[in-house]
Amino acid sequence: MIVLGIESSCDETAVAIVKDRKDILSSVVASQIDVHKEFGGVVPEVASRIHVENISYLIEDALKKANLTMDDVDVVAVTKGPGLIGCLHVGVQAAKTLAFAFHKPLVPVHHIAAHIYANELVTDVHYPVLALVVSGGHSQLIYMKEEGSFEILGTTQDDAIGEAFDKVARVMNLGYPGGPKIDKLAKQGKNVYALPKPKTQGKYDFSFSGLKSGVLQFTKRMERQGKTYSDADLACSFQECALNEIFDKIRLVLNDFPDIKHFVVGGGVSANSRLREKVEELKGEYPNVTFTVPPMFACTDNATMIAVAGTIAYEHGRRADASLTADANWEI
Ligand code: KG4
Ligand code: ZN
Repeated sequence: MIVLGIESSCDETAVAIVKDRKDILSSVVASQIDVHKEFGGVVPEVASRIHVENISYLIEDALKKANLTMDDVDVVAVTKGPGLIGCLHVGVQAAKTLAFAFHKPLVPVHHIAAHIYANELVTDVHYPVLALVVSGGHSQLIYMKEEGSFEILGTTQDDAIGEAFDKVARVMNLGYPGGPKIDKLAKQGKNVYALPKPKTQGKYDFSFSGLKSGVLQFTKRMERQGKTYSDADLACSFQECALNEIFDKIRLVLNDFPDIKHFVVGGGVSANSRLREKVEELKGEYPNVTFTVPPMFACTDNATMIAVAGTIAYEHGRRADASLTADANWEI
């Protein structure tokens, strides 16, 4: 089955064509990072305008690169939510137009489910699954008893982890998006600065805003006292603290749910090199669990994951009609 996926939930316009869940026939992404970095973050109104400008070219380009026409496509899949509402509408409108003009089934996709299903590109996922979603908008631990079922065990009480990386990078004047910059800088540093350990209510919940404020207070204190500090050591100390918070909770869930067969990660922060090392370390501790991280190109927003999730949703019978609309807060 050949599925064309469309993604426009934030600052990447993306179109991909995937055959039978795993075979990527084409994938094109137009990133707006260069535009938004001038503002230090995504400006929703600007983002949706650029999606409008790019979307038709990307659809044309994806078909051309795959050497296909719309006649060869079986299903059109699109991100319905969650995300920035004006941005989502652009993708949904384009998908509706394509599906009805060419008489193809239309399948709405959940952006977070798609981040999780990106792992299908490199493995056959075995259930029950524990999925860690770590992106700019979400930090969640999700238990999946079977394909298509999602139970949120833990979530962030405040900032998402990617948001914390971006805000700390801003405090340190590293630029936007901060995640990759902190990742790179941390490699040259050591975990030497004591930062506040997050406090949470729920057993599997996360919190990152105290840690983020801790970094700000640390830099102000050093300035006040006229002391210098190492940017690399601060990046490394922050990253270790944030990731330890996540990995402590992963271990709690894996200990409490011995039926879990497969652990997968999804979302932009799964590109983090230290996070990927820490997943490797877990392998030795839980020999009965399979551990998978998505390929680097499928960590941050892209449309291959939308096409894969669209394939799965289609197989589960999900369809949309002309009444399909975007939903900024769509629950998984
Ligand atoms: O999944 P994504 O592209 O968009 C959302 O759905 O939010 O995630 C973007 C987030 C940003 O916060 C970015 O800083 C973070 O992923 N990110 C990283 C790395 N690469 C991207 N965070 C840490 N280390 C990285 N290497
Ligand atoms: Zn995303």
